[in-house]
Amino acid sequence: MTDAVPVVVLGGTGYVSGELLRLLAGHPSLRVAAVVSTSHAGAPVTASFPHLAGCGLDGLVFSEPSALAHLVRSGGRLAVFAATPHGATAPLVDGLLGEAEAAGTEAHVVDLSADFRFSDPTRFAAVYGSPHAAPHRLAAFSRGVPEHVTGPVGPHAAQPGCFVTAAVLAAYPAFALGIVEPDVFVSGVTGSSGSGRTPAANTHHPERRSTLYAYAPLNHRHEAEMRSLLGVAAGGEPDVAFVPHSGPFVRGIHATLRLSLTAPRQTDEILAAYQVFYSGARFVDVAAAPPKLTDVVGTNRARIGVTARGRVLVVTCVIDNLVKGSAGGGIQWMNRLLGLPEAAGLTQPGLGYL
Ligand SMILES: NC(=O)c1ccc[n+]([C@@H]2O[C@H](COP(=O)([O-])OP(=O)(O)OC[C@H]3O[C@@H](n4cnc5c(N)ncnc54)[C@H](OP(=O)(O)O)[C@@H]3O)[C@@H](O)[C@H]2O)c1
Repeated sequence: MTDAVPVVVLGGTGYVSGELLRLLAGHPSLRVAAVVSTSHAGAPVTASFPHLAGCGLDGLVFSEPSALAHLVRSGGRLAVFAATPHGATAPLVDGLLGEAEAAGTEAHVVDLSADFRFSDPTRFAAVYGSPHAAPHRLAAFSRGVPEHVTGPVGPHAAQPGCFVTAAVLAAYPAFALGIVEPDVFVSGVTGSSGSGRTPAANTHHPERRSTLYAYAPLNHRHEAEMRSLLGVAAGGEPDVAFVPHSGPFVRGIHATLRLSLTAPRQTDEILAAYQVFYSGARFVDVAAAPPKLTDVVGTNRARIGVTARGRVLVVTCVIDNLVKGSAGGGIQWMNRLLGLPEAAGLTQPGLGYL
């Protein structure tokens, strides 16, 4: 792996960081060079992620943020994944890119937080309640899922939120094909890993293990992102009504979307159109039967089911929030930015039963 591109992961002990490391351990062209932790610098990475022992990361310790200088100033290529909280990411990325530019290092950033998901900094401020810390960097980011972005990209990319990934994969073809009215209802159920490593009252295991509940109906931050990305396909932002739910499982997102067809259509007709739309998409399968979470958990795949009756179109979509919805989708983006095969390091089979 001497020619492998060195990788810096920001967000050290977090769940998405751990998932990045799991996937990167098997990547043929990327090599983990540093994992930055604000709380565990100097500690072995495999002490925080024991399931990663024995896959090439033994001996690697978490780095202080200040210990990146030799990588950022190398003058070569550098891949950076930001798996840090929103708000904290933009200043970190801005500083790192400033140093890289000064040294002539070709750095590519994939942001897995929310900081670069909107092209308009006022929209970020409206949704997240604080001004954007690096608005001058926004234009250098591609945004959306790789399946929906054609043509030149980068030099950096912002992976959408996990609920957003499932919703836009499900709805984008219908808007791009011009067969639906400009409004969509999205019901999404997420597993507990979507809330990150730090427990909170509503996300704590006993509070959610054997129950199911909606939260923040019509008031979740991902709703604005869905509008923005679906607006690209629809030629103007559709109305999106989103109700997230907390599900009694660890990994995965199950989204159910209700769209209104402009004319009555049969399931077979929609199914064929969706299959053509995603025919070049390595990670997206479309079928008539509704998919199950266990079809995709542990993989970078999305499975979509479509059903039509009269003017009603129902689309279901399942992804793994930690893979297609963050770390895996992020690596897919990085492969694209670096000119690597888009599926490199991302073809692990799923677990099936867990
Ligand atoms: N979980 C998901 O399914 C998911 C899906 C899509 C997107 N995301 C996004 O991905 C990012 C990471 O999510 P996560 O679930 O991994 O969260 P997490 O488990 O809470 O991990 C985030 C990590 O970032 C580090 N950190 C915390 N505050 C920081 C700061 N001020 N500056 C620098 N580093 C800081 C901490 O690691 P150290 O203490 O080691 O520094 C923390 O463990 C978030 O922006 C999240 O919204 C998550």
